[in-house]
Amino acid sequence: MCGIIGIVGTSTVTERLVDGLKRLEYRGYDSSGVAVLDGGKLIRQRAEGKIKGLVAKLATDHVDGQIGIAHTRWATHGVPNETNAHPHFSGRVGVVHNGIIENFLDIRKELSHRDFRTETDTEVVSHLVDEALSQGLAPKEAFSQSLKKLKGAYAFGVIIDDHPDHIYCARAGSPLALGIGEDEMYLGSDAMALAQLTTKLIYLEEGDWAILTPTSYEIYDVDDNKVERDITILTGGPAMAEKGNYRHFMLKEMYEQPETIGRTLSNYIDEYRLSANVPAELDFSEFDRVIIIACGTACYAGMVAKYWFEQVAGLAVDVDIASEFRYRKPVISPKSLFIAVSQSGETADTLAALRYCKEAGVKTAALVNVMTSTMAREADIALPINAGPEIGVASTKAFTSQLTALASLALAAGTARGMISEDDQKRMATALIKTPRHVKQALRLDKDIEAMAFEFSKSKSAFYLGRGSQVPIAFEGALKLKEISYIHAEGYAAGELKHGPIALIEDGTPVIVLAPYDRLFEKTISNLQEVASRGAHIILITDKEGASHAESMADNMIVLPTSDSFVAPIITTVAVQLLAYHTAVHLGTDVDQPRNLAKSVTVE
Ligand code: F6R
Repeated sequence: MCGIIGIVGTSTVTERLVDGLKRLEYRGYDSSGVAVLDGGKLIRQRAEGKIKGLVAKLATDHVDGQIGIAHTRWATHGVPNETNAHPHFSGRVGVVHNGIIENFLDIRKELSHRDFRTETDTEVVSHLVDEALSQGLAPKEAFSQSLKKLKGAYAFGVIIDDHPDHIYCARAGSPLALGIGEDEMYLGSDAMALAQLTTKLIYLEEGDWAILTPTSYEIYDVDDNKVERDITILTGGPAMAEKGNYRHFMLKEMYEQPETIGRTLSNYIDEYRLSANVPAELDFSEFDRVIIIACGTACYAGMVAKYWFEQVAGLAVDVDIASEFRYRKPVISPKSLFIAVSQSGETADTLAALRYCKEAGVKTAALVNVMTSTMAREADIALPINAGPEIGVASTKAFTSQLTALASLALAAGTARGMISEDDQKRMATALIKTPRHVKQALRLDKDIEAMAFEFSKSKSAFYLGRGSQVPIAFEGALKLKEISYIHAEGYAAGELKHGPIALIEDGTPVIVLAPYDRLFEKTISNLQEVASRGAHIILITDKEGASHAESMADNMIVLPTSDSFVAPIITTVAVQLLAYHTAVHLGTDVDQPRNLAKSVTVE
């Protein structure tokens, strides 16, 4: 899940490579580096930490040339220091790599006569190519033969000393796009990296490798046959998301939610008929089961959808985290609909699960934010959420848009399967249409939540409780808190606490209870009392009606606008997002780029 970019052209490249890296920084920010051929000779600059460190080094010790490769790293093998930063050099060869070379130890053994200088898996690639060159092979053969020895996931860019007009690149398991320019060619991990350079892209297919010169590109498939791949024209321009007046991207993205949810709805809800619209290929009467696979926050969206599909459409749903599903030999009924949920559309495990289900012959859909992503291209049906670029590593607006889209799909399924009356269909569609307004009202609680977060930020750990479709929001609230404030937190189904975790409650332990006034309200409040009577500090997230019933039982209350219980999980999400955000800000953490994380997880 590193980011790579390369340019081969006729003018200097370093500034543009670094600009591309900034667009890729969401993929990792442990270290970065750039390598160019200057007078045919490989030189590089690398720095530990974020790209601004590389920029500072380049300001005093600039490297430049008309061909170059660059990298921003999320460390897998080897600590994130400068030595392990890419590009790696071995002899005549420089390489940048995104992915994991699984057989790197075997290759290191095979090449034990060579001088390995890093702890990375990637270094074997530059050694393999250099070894082949020193045995007399031409660069093209040296590169293609080296590829045959690799196992694992990769997207590479390779440049070679005294071979100034060529970049070699390849992909297997990790995404890679080629860009076509005027007397220039590019490679990049995603469309965004190349958006300021060109609008003409080619997405390499699994196993493809390519040779780029300033005026040409050649693509070969996994069997070394020369192949043509479609050119995609990028729309939407090079604009990179800006923070504007917001202190963090995460805050901006939370505030965008009324608009982003509205955009999602415009894809799926007919405001005049008060019904759900889905692509014609998605005939829910065909399916006997839905399989939703995702990771992290996206998986919590899937868990909420399970409640919706079962209640609204009478359709059985399996939800699983992708890293488990793919190795479990799951039993898949031929009449299943598989839905991958992913903001990036590139998450390695989710993509593998999608491929597994495609091979099993079931219909596959990808609910994604990035419509140029691998999942969107490989699934039978690509379902957009249209939340716009999400830069903050902690997912916010993508999550509420995933929920909105999944609620709409459940509604469509309920109608197609004759499981809901027309009145119910209209009530639920209306509830969805009102969601942007309710989210806007929830955001007005920002200042109150900020004040509450001050005390909360002194906590060592916290619990989030909910019932029904609020359980996954309890998980999501705990995850948001953990990832940006580094406070330990756990989400639990409220009824489950007394089966063990309640032993952890002591005087002052913060417990955030998600309890909109619905059919489970009283049961959740009973669980609230169980922890309150053991000294927990209760933050109750509810609505007006809930507040009037439970005011005396909470130490703090967040009173959200009253919404239909169908969409309530979307509204409570806003409160847990704001609570995590302000807690992190009080603690002074790096909210947009929390430690150890990356936005897009393209390795297992
Ligand atoms: C948490 C978060 C992650 C992602 C997960 C899946 O805030 O963002 O848990 O949800 O890594 O990523 P995507 O949705 O890109 O597949």
